[in-house]
Amino acid sequence: MSTELAIETAGLVKVFGENRAVDGVDLAVPTGTVYGVLGPNGAGKTTTVRMLATLLRPDGGTARVFGKDVMKDPDAVRSRVSLTGQYASVDEDLTGNENLVLLARLLGHSKPAARDRAAQLLEGFGLSEAAGKQVKNYSGGMRRRIDIAASILNTPDLLFLDEPTTGLDPRSRNQVWDIVRAVVAQGTTVLLTTQYLDEADQLASRIAVIDHGRVIAEGTKGELKASVGSGTVHLRLRDAAQRPEAERVLSRALDASVLLDADPVALTARIDAHGSDRGAAEQAARALAELARSGITVDNFSLGQPSLDEVFLALTDKKGVAA
Ligand SMILES: Nc1ncnc2c1ncn2[C@@H]1O[C@H](COP(=O)(O)OP(=O)(O)OP(=O)(O)O)[C@@H](O)[C@H]1O
Ligand SMILES: [Mg+2]
Repeated sequence: MSTELAIETAGLVKVFGENRAVDGVDLAVPTGTVYGVLGPNGAGKTTTVRMLATLLRPDGGTARVFGKDVMKDPDAVRSRVSLTGQYASVDEDLTGNENLVLLARLLGHSKPAARDRAAQLLEGFGLSEAAGKQVKNYSGGMRRRIDIAASILNTPDLLFLDEPTTGLDPRSRNQVWDIVRAVVAQGTTVLLTTQYLDEADQLASRIAVIDHGRVIAEGTKGELKASVGSGTVHLRLRDAAQRPEAERVLSRALDASVLLDADPVALTARIDAHGSDRGAAEQAARALAELARSGITVDNFSLGQPSLDEVFLALTDKKGVAA
């Protein structure tokens, strides 16, 4: 694999009036992988993607795509990227097949080549049966798949997928995930924005968490999870009256701050065992024994790796588990 970066930004800025929607973003996206950009509503994800895809002019900083500057050399950038739902505008009144053949012809494919490519994508995306239906009659999941198919008629070197599964049911999401994996297997780099942490968990090799236009954390999933501790203990007590005592026992046994959940019998604590799973399990077992010794009845106890949800909350909401 080439060590060339697919995307490299330094201090990227976009200002709308008084609002610094993107406020100094540094990204380094390796080629050949899915890179996840995770952030809450209004964090600046779409604005960042639009600047990288040359649809929006940055107000500061630099952005390069495969080494080409998005402001100085936008045509070179455009020739190598595709953005789902933007460049590929699917016509509602045409059938799925007609759309793909038409777009392929516009991209310069011969008629037989366009038909072949359309058939291949419809088949690959599970849309063969729907090929002859007008797109306006497609379900949300089918619509999303035809959008992605249209954006990869010519295999792009870099594909931007801006929240590709928002609003889809679990089965359709899985289908889109399979498509993303297949696209990457063919050598395309994918920049995926999402608000679904499990989506980033499933697909992305590295993740940048952005909030208020800034990257607040970046790394592999493992690194991000490790940054908030090596395990999370959840427990539910039989009796809510025992919770203050349970909190004292737990925080002493785990040497960690304990979060009192909204549910009056529930507590959550993060264990920092310096990346060792065995350490986390041993600490959790010790804590459980201490609770029993103190006469506290525990109905439910679990130890898990922190989820990306917890990482996300810890990073973006200081009232969350990080408090
Ligand atoms: N064209 C525009 N004009 C003015 N403000 C804008 C424009 N586009 C985005 N913004 C503002 O910039 C900020 C970042 O918006 P952006 O769409 O990039 O967020 P996002 O992370 O994609 O959010 P979401 O998850 O809701 O899609 C928001 O405060 C938004 O209101
Ligand atoms: Mg957005």
